[in-house]
Amino acid sequence: MLDRFPADEYRSIVELRRDLHRHPELAFEESRTGALVAARLARLGAAVATGVGKTGVTADVGEGGARLLVRADMDALPLTEASGEEFSSEEAGRMHACGHDGHVAIALAAAGRLRRDPPARGLRFLFQPAEERGGGARACVADGVLDGVTAAIGLHLWNQLPVGKVGVFRGAMMAAVDEFEISVRGRGGHGAAPHETFDPIVAAARIVEALQTVVSREVSPLDSAVVTIASIHGGDAFNIIPSTVRLTGTARWFTEATGAAMPAKIGRIVSGTAAAAGVSAHLEYRRINRPVVNDPRVADVVIEAARRLLGEENVDTETRTLGGEDMSVYLDRVPGCFFFVGSAPEGPHRPHHSPEFAIDERALVVGTTLLEAAARDVAAAAFERA
Ligand code: NI
Repeated sequence: MLDRFPADEYRSIVELRRDLHRHPELAFEESRTGALVAARLARLGAAVATGVGKTGVTADVGEGGARLLVRADMDALPLTEASGEEFSSEEAGRMHACGHDGHVAIALAAAGRLRRDPPARGLRFLFQPAEERGGGARACVADGVLDGVTAAIGLHLWNQLPVGKVGVFRGAMMAAVDEFEISVRGRGGHGAAPHETFDPIVAAARIVEALQTVVSREVSPLDSAVVTIASIHGGDAFNIIPSTVRLTGTARWFTEATGAAMPAKIGRIVSGTAAAAGVSAHLEYRRINRPVVNDPRVADVVIEAARRLLGEENVDTETRTLGGEDMSVYLDRVPGCFFFVGSAPEGPHRPHHSPEFAIDERALVVGTTLLEAAARDVAAAAFERA
């Protein structure tokens, strides 16, 4: 596939991706990106709408009303780039560290191809804002992007897979994202007189340890889940026991039963452990993203297209992650499929959301080719809403 792809088209996709990479924009601030996308789509002669979900852009392509949603996300992350790429971010504290610049370039290239040779059923390309902080997909749905739509597809560049491989899972492929905050309140005092205090630091340490048993003892070993404490804040002197400690963390899960029970399990352990230590603890629990669940019928169409283009051995049908994505907002409402396009560069691992993130740009060819084919095939299969 890589050697059959037109060289001038590849150059223009790479050029666009690098331009976006130099000018990353955070969630709901994608005005330059959105304007650039809208101008390119208008040049294709597509029916373009801007200001969708605040800073998003849609374009309808093909005959009749748009039935299939093809979604790409546009936002960057609040990180300062340290990838060493010559086209690194020109903005301190902002970086395309997840590959969304590539998603935009891929979707624009696929839209161009589909515009030149339109499928029989209509497609709606959506360039979505604010995936990273959440809220972008919901804002787009509120603005009507799913009106008339009966199926949805989208992709993510993925550094867990090498270039030339893709991952398509028939079912729950990305986890739900919940976040929580635990405030531990004790009684502070002198570091030399702990017996006169109720030490929230020791209590917080016990809570962190006790929470490890949620997954190991309370979730079925045949199910997958994560409970991570990601920050601990308390105290600021070497000899003072503080009166409060604040912990934040995330819970990830795939199945509804596990997700429904999670706040109560965490809450019971937090308050029981706090009580044993003579302190009080308050849990605040928020749902951010639902699991990304592919419809097996739509996934089968994408798997078929991927096997045809890349060969059976390059299509991984087992890839899943406890990372999250707001693609779930669409897939909760219409059948669809989200899939991973391998983009790992040579050399050391360059994880998503790290300042060293980088991709092998040949993944843009795989992404464009597969997104175009998947859009054609899924549109032709004419899935209906359940
Ligand atoms: Ni991402």
